[in-house]
Amino acid sequence: MPILSSSLRNDFPVLKRSKIIYLDNACMTLRPKQVIEAINWYYKTNCACAGRSFHKQSEELNERVAKARETIKGFFKASKSHEIVFTKNTTEGINTVAFGFNLRRGDLVVTSDREHNSNLIPWLVLKKRGIKHIAVPSTENFEFDLEAMHEAMSKKVKIVSVVHISNIDGYELPIKEIIKLSHDFGAKVLIDGAQSAGHIPLNLKKLDADFFAASSHKACGPIIGCLLIKEELLEQVKPLMYGGGTVANATLNSFELLAKHERFEAGLQDYASIIGFGEACKYLNKIGMEKIEQHDRTLTKKLMKRLVDINGVTIVGVNDWRKCTSIVSFNIEGFSPHDVALMLDEAHSIAVRSGKHCAHAWFNKYCKSGCVRASTFLYNQMDEINILVEEVSKIAELLEK
Ligand code: ALA
Repeated sequence: MPILSSSLRNDFPVLKRSKIIYLDNACMTLRPKQVIEAINWYYKTNCACAGRSFHKQSEELNERVAKARETIKGFFKASKSHEIVFTKNTTEGINTVAFGFNLRRGDLVVTSDREHNSNLIPWLVLKKRGIKHIAVPSTENFEFDLEAMHEAMSKKVKIVSVVHISNIDGYELPIKEIIKLSHDFGAKVLIDGAQSAGHIPLNLKKLDADFFAASSHKACGPIIGCLLIKEELLEQVKPLMYGGGTVANATLNSFELLAKHERFEAGLQDYASIIGFGEACKYLNKIGMEKIEQHDRTLTKKLMKRLVDINGVTIVGVNDWRKCTSIVSFNIEGFSPHDVALMLDEAHSIAVRSGKHCAHAWFNKYCKSGCVRASTFLYNQMDEINILVEEVSKIAELLEK
Protein backbone atom coordinates (compact mmCIF):
# COMPACT_ATOMS: atom_id res chain seq x y z
CA MET A 1 0.00 0.00 0.00
CA PRO A 2 1.13 3.56 -0.57
CA ILE A 3 2.62 4.96 2.55
CA LEU A 4 1.61 8.59 2.27
CA SER A 5 -1.56 9.55 4.03
CA SER A 6 -4.58 10.77 2.07
CA SER A 7 -4.75 13.68 4.54
CA LEU A 8 -2.04 15.34 2.43
CA ARG A 9 -4.75 15.93 -0.13
CA ASN A 10 -6.15 18.66 2.14
CA ASP A 11 -3.12 20.76 1.21
CA PHE A 12 -4.21 20.91 -2.42
CA PRO A 13 -7.06 23.36 -3.12
CA VAL A 14 -7.74 21.89 -6.59
CA LEU A 15 -8.55 18.52 -5.02
CA LYS A 16 -10.99 20.16 -2.63
CA ARG A 17 -12.77 22.00 -5.40
CA SER A 18 -13.46 19.06 -7.71
CA LYS A 19 -13.62 15.29 -7.70
CA ILE A 20 -10.94 15.02 -10.31
CA ILE A 21 -8.60 12.01 -10.43
CA TYR A 22 -5.48 13.86 -11.40
CA LEU A 23 -3.00 11.63 -13.21
CA ASP A 24 -1.29 14.17 -15.46
CA ASN A 25 1.52 14.91 -13.04
CA ALA A 26 4.33 14.30 -15.54
CA CYS A 27 3.08 17.39 -17.33
CA MET A 28 2.18 19.60 -14.38
CA THR A 29 1.57 18.78 -10.73
CA LEU A 30 -0.99 20.36 -8.45
CA ARG A 31 0.24 22.95 -5.95
CA PRO A 32 -0.20 22.89 -2.18
CA LYS A 33 -1.58 25.90 -0.31
CA GLN A 34 1.84 26.49 1.29
CA VAL A 35 3.30 27.24 -2.15
CA ILE A 36 0.33 29.35 -3.21
CA GLU A 37 0.65 31.39 -0.01
CA ALA A 38 4.37 31.92 -0.58
CA ILE A 39 3.65 33.23 -4.09
CA ASN A 40 0.90 35.46 -2.72
CA TRP A 41 3.26 36.81 -0.04
CA TYR A 42 5.28 38.48 -2.79
CA TYR A 43 2.32 40.15 -4.48
CA LYS A 44 0.47 41.03 -1.30
CA THR A 45 3.31 42.32 0.84
CA ASN A 46 6.41 43.06 -1.16
CA CYS A 47 6.22 43.61 -4.95
CA ALA A 48 9.76 45.01 -5.05
CA CYS A 49 12.81 44.14 -7.12
CA ALA A 50 15.78 42.17 -5.82
CA GLY A 51 19.48 42.89 -6.21
CA ARG A 52 19.20 46.51 -7.29
CA SER A 53 17.64 48.90 -4.81
CA PHE A 54 18.59 49.58 -1.19
CA HIS A 55 15.17 50.28 0.35
CA LYS A 56 13.64 48.02 2.97
CA GLN A 57 11.24 46.22 0.63
CA SER A 58 14.10 45.33 -1.66
CA GLU A 59 16.35 44.21 1.20
CA GLU A 60 13.57 41.99 2.50
CA LEU A 61 13.14 40.46 -0.96
CA ASN A 62 16.91 39.93 -1.37
CA GLU A 63 16.80 37.87 1.77
CA ARG A 64 13.80 35.78 0.66
CA VAL A 65 15.36 35.09 -2.75
CA ALA A 66 18.70 34.10 -1.19
CA LYS A 67 16.88 31.83 1.26
CA ALA A 68 14.92 30.20 -1.57
CA ARG A 69 18.13 29.56 -3.52
CA GLU A 70 19.67 28.01 -0.41
CA THR A 71 16.63 25.75 0.14
CA ILE A 72 16.71 24.67 -3.51
CA LYS A 73 20.42 23.93 -3.16
CA GLY A 74 19.61 21.72 -0.17
CA PHE A 75 16.82 19.98 -2.06
CA PHE A 76 19.13 19.02 -4.94
CA LYS A 77 22.09 18.52 -2.61
CA ALA A 78 24.17 20.75 -4.86
CA SER A 79 27.53 22.02 -3.63
CA LYS A 80 26.90 25.78 -3.72
CA SER A 81 23.80 27.91 -4.01
CA HIS A 82 25.47 30.02 -6.70
CA GLU A 83 25.49 26.94 -8.94
CA ILE A 84 21.72 27.33 -9.26
CA VAL A 85 20.51 29.40 -12.20
CA PHE A 86 16.81 30.20 -12.39
CA THR A 87 15.25 29.48 -15.77
CA LYS A 88 11.75 29.47 -17.22
CA ASN A 89 11.74 25.66 -17.29
CA THR A 90 13.84 22.57 -18.07
CA THR A 91 13.74 23.48 -21.77
CA GLU A 92 15.47 26.80 -21.14
CA GLY A 93 18.08 25.06 -18.99
CA ILE A 94 18.93 22.57 -21.74
CA ASN A 95 19.00 25.31 -24.40
CA THR A 96 21.37 27.35 -22.21
CA VAL A 97 23.90 24.52 -22.21
CA ALA A 98 23.36 23.56 -25.86
CA PHE A 99 23.92 27.07 -27.19
CA GLY A 100 26.23 28.37 -24.45
CA PHE A 101 28.75 25.59 -24.02
CA ASN A 102 31.67 25.97 -26.31
CA LEU A 103 30.76 23.38 -28.96
CA ARG A 104 32.68 23.53 -32.23
CA ARG A 105 32.29 22.07 -35.70
CA GLY A 106 33.10 18.33 -35.54
CA ASP A 107 32.25 17.99 -31.81
CA LEU A 108 29.87 15.20 -30.96
CA VAL A 109 26.81 15.20 -28.70
CA VAL A 110 25.35 11.89 -27.50
CA THR A 111 21.78 11.44 -26.28
CA SER A 112 19.45 8.48 -25.82
CA ASP A 113 16.83 7.79 -28.51
CA ARG A 114 14.01 8.57 -26.07
CA GLU A 115 14.62 12.27 -25.48
CA HIS A 116 11.87 14.84 -25.10
CA ASN A 117 11.92 17.46 -27.89
CA SER A 118 13.63 19.86 -25.44
CA ASN A 119 16.66 17.58 -25.39
CA LEU A 120 16.61 16.77 -29.09
CA ILE A 121 15.67 19.81 -31.16
CA PRO A 122 18.51 22.04 -29.83
CA TRP A 123 21.04 19.39 -30.94
CA LEU A 124 19.35 19.07 -34.34
CA VAL A 125 19.61 22.86 -34.73
CA LEU A 126 23.31 22.66 -33.84
CA LYS A 127 23.81 20.03 -36.57
CA LYS A 128 23.42 22.90 -39.04
CA ARG A 129 26.53 24.44 -37.44
CA GLY A 130 28.57 21.27 -37.95
CA ILE A 131 28.04 19.69 -34.52
CA LYS A 132 27.29 15.99 -34.77
CA HIS A 133 24.61 14.13 -32.84
CA ILE A 134 24.27 10.45 -32.05
CA ALA A 135 21.11 9.03 -30.46
CA VAL A 136 22.05 5.76 -28.76
CA PRO A 137 19.52 3.11 -29.87
CA SER A 138 17.59 1.39 -27.06
CA THR A 139 17.64 -2.36 -26.45
CA GLU A 140 14.71 -4.36 -27.78
CA ASN A 141 13.03 -3.89 -24.37
CA PHE A 142 13.33 -0.11 -24.82
CA GLU A 143 15.98 0.11 -22.10
CA PHE A 144 19.12 2.22 -22.31
CA ASP A 145 21.93 0.26 -23.95
CA LEU A 146 25.21 0.99 -22.17
CA GLU A 147 27.15 -1.12 -24.66
CA ALA A 148 25.75 0.85 -27.58
CA MET A 149 26.66 4.03 -25.72
CA HIS A 150 30.20 2.73 -25.26
CA GLU A 151 30.44 2.19 -29.02
CA ALA A 152 29.26 5.76 -29.65
CA MET A 153 31.81 7.28 -27.28
CA SER A 154 35.13 8.80 -28.36
CA LYS A 155 37.23 11.80 -27.43
CA LYS A 156 35.11 13.80 -29.87
CA VAL A 157 32.07 13.54 -27.60
CA LYS A 158 31.86 16.81 -25.71
CA ILE A 159 28.42 16.44 -24.16
CA VAL A 160 26.29 13.47 -23.19
CA SER A 161 22.77 14.76 -22.62
CA VAL A 162 20.20 12.29 -21.35
CA VAL A 163 16.88 12.19 -19.61
CA HIS A 164 17.02 10.88 -16.03
CA ILE A 165 13.48 9.47 -15.78
CA SER A 166 11.71 9.29 -19.12
CA ASN A 167 8.46 11.19 -19.64
CA ILE A 168 7.42 8.43 -22.07
CA ASP A 169 7.11 5.53 -19.64
CA GLY A 170 8.78 6.45 -16.33
CA TYR A 171 11.87 4.38 -17.16
CA GLU A 172 14.85 5.37 -15.02
CA LEU A 173 18.05 5.41 -17.03
CA PRO A 174 21.25 3.96 -15.46
CA ILE A 175 22.42 7.47 -14.80
CA LYS A 176 25.45 6.68 -12.60
CA GLU A 177 26.88 4.38 -15.27
CA ILE A 178 26.14 6.94 -18.00
CA ILE A 179 27.94 9.67 -16.04
CA LYS A 180 30.93 7.42 -15.33
CA LEU A 181 31.27 6.35 -18.97
CA SER A 182 30.93 9.96 -20.19
CA HIS A 183 33.59 11.21 -17.78
CA ASP A 184 35.91 8.34 -18.76
CA PHE A 185 35.90 9.85 -22.27
CA GLY A 186 36.24 13.42 -20.98
CA ALA A 187 32.68 14.40 -21.94
CA LYS A 188 30.44 16.63 -19.82
CA VAL A 189 27.04 15.32 -18.76
CA LEU A 190 23.77 17.22 -18.94
CA ILE A 191 20.82 15.57 -17.23
CA ASP A 192 17.20 16.34 -18.08
CA GLY A 193 15.77 16.01 -14.59
CA ALA A 194 12.25 17.15 -15.43
CA GLN A 195 10.69 13.89 -14.26
CA SER A 196 13.14 12.94 -11.52
CA ALA A 197 13.10 16.19 -9.51
CA GLY A 198 10.30 15.79 -6.97
CA HIS A 199 9.90 12.04 -7.52
CA ILE A 200 13.16 10.54 -6.26
CA PRO A 201 15.75 11.84 -3.77
CA LEU A 202 18.54 13.63 -5.59
CA ASN A 203 22.13 14.18 -4.60
CA LEU A 204 23.87 16.12 -7.32
CA LYS A 205 27.14 16.31 -5.43
CA LYS A 206 27.31 12.51 -5.32
CA LEU A 207 25.94 12.07 -8.81
CA ASP A 208 28.70 14.31 -10.16
CA ALA A 209 26.66 15.54 -13.14
CA ASP A 210 28.02 18.66 -14.79
CA PHE A 211 24.63 20.16 -15.65
CA PHE A 212 21.18 19.31 -14.34
CA ALA A 213 17.99 20.95 -15.62
CA ALA A 214 14.65 20.73 -13.81
CA SER A 215 11.18 22.30 -13.59
CA SER A 216 9.49 23.34 -10.38
CA HIS A 217 5.99 23.01 -11.86
CA LYS A 218 6.48 19.25 -12.07
CA ALA A 219 7.27 19.20 -8.35
CA CYS A 220 4.55 21.19 -6.57
CA GLY A 221 6.01 24.58 -7.47
CA PRO A 222 5.16 27.50 -9.74
CA ILE A 223 6.07 27.66 -13.42
CA ILE A 224 9.79 28.16 -13.14
CA GLY A 225 12.87 25.97 -13.51
CA CYS A 226 16.52 25.82 -12.70
CA LEU A 227 19.76 24.80 -14.28
CA LEU A 228 22.48 23.53 -11.98
CA ILE A 229 25.95 24.18 -13.33
CA LYS A 230 29.03 22.79 -11.61
CA GLU A 231 31.00 25.66 -10.12
CA GLU A 232 34.07 25.17 -12.32
CA LEU A 233 31.90 25.28 -15.47
CA LEU A 234 29.93 28.45 -14.64
CA GLU A 235 32.25 30.65 -16.64
CA GLN A 236 32.56 28.18 -19.51
CA VAL A 237 28.91 28.62 -20.50
CA LYS A 238 27.75 31.72 -22.34
CA PRO A 239 24.37 33.04 -21.26
CA LEU A 240 21.39 32.78 -23.61
CA MET A 241 20.44 36.36 -22.77
CA TYR A 242 22.32 39.45 -21.68
CA GLY A 243 21.13 42.51 -19.78
CA GLY A 244 20.65 44.09 -16.39
CA GLY A 245 21.91 42.10 -13.43
CA THR A 246 24.42 40.11 -15.48
CA VAL A 247 27.34 42.54 -15.60
CA ALA A 248 29.76 44.00 -13.07
CA ASN A 249 30.37 47.00 -15.32
CA ALA A 250 29.93 48.25 -18.88
CA THR A 251 31.07 51.09 -21.13
CA LEU A 252 29.69 51.99 -24.54
CA ASN A 253 32.15 49.51 -26.03
CA SER A 254 32.64 46.74 -23.49
CA PHE A 255 31.15 44.81 -20.60
CA GLU A 256 32.33 42.58 -17.81
CA LEU A 257 30.07 39.64 -17.03
CA LEU A 258 29.50 38.71 -13.41
CA ALA A 259 30.64 35.32 -12.19
CA LYS A 260 28.31 32.66 -10.81
CA HIS A 261 24.54 32.41 -11.39
CA GLU A 262 24.11 36.16 -11.86
CA ARG A 263 25.60 36.13 -15.35
CA PHE A 264 22.64 34.01 -16.54
CA GLU A 265 19.72 35.77 -14.85
CA ALA A 266 19.21 38.76 -17.14
CA GLY A 267 16.60 41.37 -16.32
CA LEU A 268 14.08 41.44 -13.51
CA GLN A 269 13.22 37.96 -12.33
CA ASP A 270 9.99 36.19 -11.39
CA TYR A 271 10.55 36.68 -7.65
CA ALA A 272 7.17 35.25 -6.66
CA SER A 273 7.99 32.01 -8.48
CA ILE A 274 11.50 31.84 -7.04
CA ILE A 275 10.04 32.10 -3.53
CA GLY A 276 7.33 29.56 -4.46
CA PHE A 277 10.00 27.19 -5.82
CA GLY A 278 11.83 27.36 -2.49
CA GLU A 279 8.60 26.69 -0.63
CA ALA A 280 7.81 23.68 -2.86
CA CYS A 281 11.24 22.19 -2.05
CA LYS A 282 10.58 22.79 1.63
CA TYR A 283 7.18 21.11 1.34
CA LEU A 284 8.61 18.02 -0.40
CA ASN A 285 11.51 17.79 2.04
CA LYS A 286 9.12 17.91 4.95
CA ILE A 287 7.15 14.94 3.61
CA GLY A 288 10.45 13.22 2.78
CA MET A 289 11.70 12.37 -0.69
CA GLU A 290 12.28 8.71 0.25
CA LYS A 291 8.63 8.39 1.23
CA ILE A 292 7.44 10.15 -1.92
CA GLU A 293 9.55 7.82 -4.04
CA GLN A 294 8.18 4.75 -2.30
CA HIS A 295 4.62 6.03 -2.67
CA ASP A 296 5.04 6.65 -6.41
CA ARG A 297 6.70 3.27 -6.94
CA THR A 298 3.89 1.45 -5.11
CA LEU A 299 1.24 3.09 -7.29
CA THR A 300 3.24 2.49 -10.48
CA LYS A 301 3.73 -1.18 -9.67
CA LYS A 302 0.06 -1.72 -8.92
CA LEU A 303 -1.13 0.10 -12.04
CA MET A 304 1.27 -1.69 -14.37
CA LYS A 305 0.51 -5.11 -12.91
CA ARG A 306 -3.23 -4.63 -13.22
CA LEU A 307 -3.21 -3.12 -16.69
CA VAL A 308 -1.24 -6.02 -18.22
CA ASP A 309 -4.00 -8.39 -17.05
CA ILE A 310 -6.66 -6.62 -19.13
CA ASN A 311 -7.34 -8.13 -22.55
CA GLY A 312 -6.51 -5.69 -25.32
CA VAL A 313 -4.30 -3.44 -23.17
CA THR A 314 -0.60 -3.11 -23.96
CA ILE A 315 2.02 -1.31 -21.92
CA VAL A 316 4.01 1.17 -23.97
CA GLY A 317 7.77 1.39 -23.38
CA VAL A 318 9.61 -0.52 -20.66
CA ASN A 319 7.22 -3.09 -19.22
CA ASP A 320 8.93 -3.62 -15.87
CA TRP A 321 7.72 -1.84 -12.75
CA ARG A 322 11.09 -2.35 -11.07
CA LYS A 323 12.69 -0.04 -13.63
CA CYS A 324 9.97 2.59 -13.88
CA THR A 325 8.40 5.11 -11.59
CA SER A 326 5.51 7.59 -11.54
CA ILE A 327 4.42 6.95 -15.13
CA VAL A 328 2.52 4.12 -16.81
CA SER A 329 1.83 4.40 -20.53
CA PHE A 330 -0.54 2.12 -22.39
CA ASN A 331 -2.85 1.62 -25.34
CA ILE A 332 -6.19 -0.12 -25.70
CA GLU A 333 -6.58 -2.11 -28.89
CA GLY A 334 -9.08 -0.54 -31.28
CA PHE A 335 -9.07 2.90 -29.65
CA SER A 336 -6.99 5.95 -30.33
CA PRO A 337 -5.15 7.31 -27.25
CA HIS A 338 -7.03 10.62 -27.49
CA ASP A 339 -10.40 8.82 -27.51
CA VAL A 340 -9.39 6.80 -24.44
CA ALA A 341 -8.31 9.98 -22.63
CA LEU A 342 -11.62 11.67 -23.46
CA MET A 343 -13.61 8.63 -22.33
CA LEU A 344 -11.73 8.46 -19.02
CA ASP A 345 -12.34 12.14 -18.43
CA GLU A 346 -16.01 11.83 -19.33
CA ALA A 347 -16.62 8.68 -17.24
CA HIS A 348 -14.87 9.63 -14.02
CA SER A 349 -13.01 12.95 -14.44
CA ILE A 350 -9.74 11.04 -14.80
CA ALA A 351 -7.12 13.43 -16.14
CA VAL A 352 -4.43 11.66 -18.17
CA ARG A 353 -2.35 12.80 -21.13
CA SER A 354 -2.56 11.24 -24.59
CA GLY A 355 -0.46 11.54 -27.74
CA LYS A 356 3.29 11.60 -28.29
CA HIS A 357 4.15 13.56 -25.15
CA CYS A 358 6.61 15.86 -26.95
CA ALA A 359 8.81 12.83 -27.62
CA HIS A 360 7.86 12.57 -31.31
CA ALA A 361 11.12 10.93 -32.39
CA TRP A 362 10.67 7.96 -30.03
CA PHE A 363 7.01 7.48 -30.90
CA ASN A 364 7.67 7.81 -34.63
CA LYS A 365 10.28 5.06 -34.30
CA TYR A 366 8.50 2.66 -31.94
CA CYS A 367 4.81 3.48 -31.48
CA LYS A 368 3.32 5.69 -34.19
CA SER A 369 -0.12 5.89 -32.59
CA GLY A 370 1.18 7.58 -29.42
CA CYS A 371 -0.26 6.38 -26.12
CA VAL A 372 -2.27 7.15 -23.02
CA ARG A 373 -0.11 8.21 -20.08
CA ALA A 374 -1.10 8.09 -16.42
CA SER A 375 1.37 9.76 -14.10
CA THR A 376 1.20 9.76 -10.31
CA PHE A 377 2.34 11.94 -7.45
CA LEU A 378 2.24 12.14 -3.69
CA TYR A 379 -1.50 12.94 -3.38
CA ASN A 380 -2.73 10.05 -5.55
CA GLN A 381 -4.25 7.13 -3.72
CA MET A 382 -4.78 3.44 -4.49
CA ASP A 383 -8.55 3.86 -4.88
CA GLU A 384 -7.85 6.25 -7.78
CA ILE A 385 -5.65 3.64 -9.45
CA ASN A 386 -8.46 1.09 -8.99
CA ILE A 387 -10.99 3.41 -10.61
CA LEU A 388 -8.66 4.03 -13.55
CA VAL A 389 -8.18 0.27 -14.02
CA GLU A 390 -11.95 -0.32 -13.87
CA GLU A 391 -12.60 2.36 -16.49
CA VAL A 392 -9.85 1.03 -18.77
CA SER A 393 -11.38 -2.48 -18.45
CA LYS A 394 -14.79 -1.13 -19.42
CA ILE A 395 -13.37 0.56 -22.52
CA ALA A 396 -11.42 -2.58 -23.51
CA GLU A 397 -14.58 -4.66 -23.12
CA LEU A 398 -16.46 -2.41 -25.56
CA LEU A 399 -14.54 -3.92 -28.44
CA GLU A 400 -15.30 -7.48 -27.37
CA LYS A 401 -19.06 -6.87 -27.51
N1 ALA B 1 7.21 17.27 -20.80
C1 ALA B 1 5.88 17.41 -20.37
C2 ALA B 1 5.11 16.14 -20.50
O1 ALA B 1 5.68 15.14 -20.79
C3 ALA B 1 5.23 18.55 -21.00
O2 ALA B 1 3.92 16.16 -20.33
